[in-house]
Amino acid sequence: MRRRFALLITALSALALSGCIGETSSSMPAPATRAPDWDRELAMMALPDADPAPDVVDVTLDARVSQVEVAGRMVEAWSYAGVVPGPVLRAKVGDLVRVHFENRLPEPTTIHWHGVEVPADQDGAGEEGGTIAPGASFDYAFRVPHAGTFWYHPHVNSAAQVWRGLYGALIVEDPAEPALGEALTLVLHDTELDESGALVPPAAQGDLGRYFGHEGSLLLVNGRLNPTLQLSSGSTLRLRLINASLSRYYRFGVDGHELVRIGSDVGLVPESESVSDLLLAPGDRAEAVLVVRGAVGAKVAARALSYDRFDCAGCTKPVELMQLALIAGQATPVTVPSTLTTIEPLDLSAATRRTVTLDEVDRDGQTYLGLNGHVHGQDPLVFMAKVGDTEVWEIENATEYDHPFHLHGFRFQVLDLNGEAPAQRTWEDTISVRRGETARIALTLDDRPGMWMFHCHILDHADLGMMGMLHVMP
Ligand code: C2O
Ligand code: CU
Repeated sequence: MRRRFALLITALSALALSGCIGETSSSMPAPATRAPDWDRELAMMALPDADPAPDVVDVTLDARVSQVEVAGRMVEAWSYAGVVPGPVLRAKVGDLVRVHFENRLPEPTTIHWHGVEVPADQDGAGEEGGTIAPGASFDYAFRVPHAGTFWYHPHVNSAAQVWRGLYGALIVEDPAEPALGEALTLVLHDTELDESGALVPPAAQGDLGRYFGHEGSLLLVNGRLNPTLQLSSGSTLRLRLINASLSRYYRFGVDGHELVRIGSDVGLVPESESVSDLLLAPGDRAEAVLVVRGAVGAKVAARALSYDRFDCAGCTKPVELMQLALIAGQATPVTVPSTLTTIEPLDLSAATRRTVTLDEVDRDGQTYLGLNGHVHGQDPLVFMAKVGDTEVWEIENATEYDHPFHLHGFRFQVLDLNGEAPAQRTWEDTISVRRGETARIALTLDDRPGMWMFHCHILDHADLGMMGMLHVMP
C-alpha cells in the first residue's frame, strides 16, 4: 500500500511539474524535448551490425592495448575496440548474436557473457573452456534467451584484465515489455592512477590487496569521472546499472530522489517498487526509473553511498558519481506500471540440495579463499549434475566480509537470505552473501551440458581460489 502510494505521488509530481501527460517507449524515437547532446558525456560506442537479418546481430570486436582518457589524462589501458568501457552490444530477446573476436593483447584472453544463458562452449570460461592465444581469433555465436542488462569481460587472469579496462555492456531488449521510456546504461568501474598518471598495475597492493579485493579511488561511470547528464525537470529516465568493478560495492542513490526499481540481474522484477537506493555488488545489475525533479539550473548529484563490505566502522564515505544538470524543456514522463511481469516459482519437490561454504583455507602457512575447503587451482570443488535437474544451493558465508556469489550459465531465484524470503521473486545470476549470513537459491538446469563455473565475483577472491565447477551431464 505504501509503495503504491509512493509511486502515485512520484507520478503525480512529475505530471504537475511537466504540465503534460505523455508516454515514451523504447520503440519510439527519442522525444524531441531532450537536448540533442543530453547524454554526450556518458555515450558509449556502438558497433555496426554486419547482418541485415532483423534477428541476427553480427559484430567484429578486438581486445588491444590502447591509449584511453581517464580523469583527463591519457593512460595506457587494455580495451575492447579501443574504448573503455568496450562498445555496448544491443540485441532483442531471441536474437542470434555473433561476435568475431580477435585477441590483440600480449596474453591469452576470452570473453565471458556474464548472465547470458549461452551454450557451455560459448561461455568464455577461460581455463575450463579454452583460451584465445595472442594473435588468435574466436567466433562467438549464441542466442540471447532473456531480456535484461548484461555485461561482458575476460575470464583469464580476470582480476588483472578487468582492472586494465576490459569490460562492456550487453543490452537485451524485449519489444513486448511495458513501455518504460528512454534508457541509459551506466557502467560502474573504479580505477587508480599513480603520480605519473599511469594506471596502477593490477597487483600493486600485493597479497593483502588480493585478500581484500582491489579498489581504486577513481569511480568512473562509462569510463568518465563525474560526468554530467542534461535532463529536463519532470522527465523520467530508465537506468540500467552494471557494477563492473573488481571489488567495490555501490549503493547507488540520487540526492533528494527516490528510484523506482524495475529490474534485477536478469530482466524485470514482478512489481515496481520505490526505493531510496540500490545496492550493487561486483557483477550485479539493477534497473530503475528515475523521475527527475528540481528547478531548472539546479545540479543534482548521483552518489555511491557508504556501504561497508567488512566491519570497518563506517570506513566507506559517499562519493559523487555523476551530476544531473536540470535544463528547461518539456518533459514526457512515463508512468511505471505497478505490475511489470510474472515469475513462477520453481518446483522444488525433487530438488538436489547442496551446500557451498565460502571460507578461508590455510595451506602451507598461506591463507587462500575457498569453497567447502577446496581451493580452485589446487583441488577444485566439482559438483556433478544432470540436464533437467532442479537444485537448491545453500550458500553460507563463514568469513568476516561480504562475497558476491556468481553462477555461470543458469539464472536462479533467491529463496531466502538468512531465513527470510525476499519481498519478491526475481531472476539473478549474482547475489551478495553478507558476512556470517546464508542465502538459499534455486535453479533448473536446462539442456546445456558442460562445465560451469561458480565463484565469488570479487575477482581477486576468485583468483585466490574461491571458485568451483558445476559439471552438467547430458
Ligand atoms: Cu562475471 Cu565468472 O563472471
Ligand atoms: Cu569474495
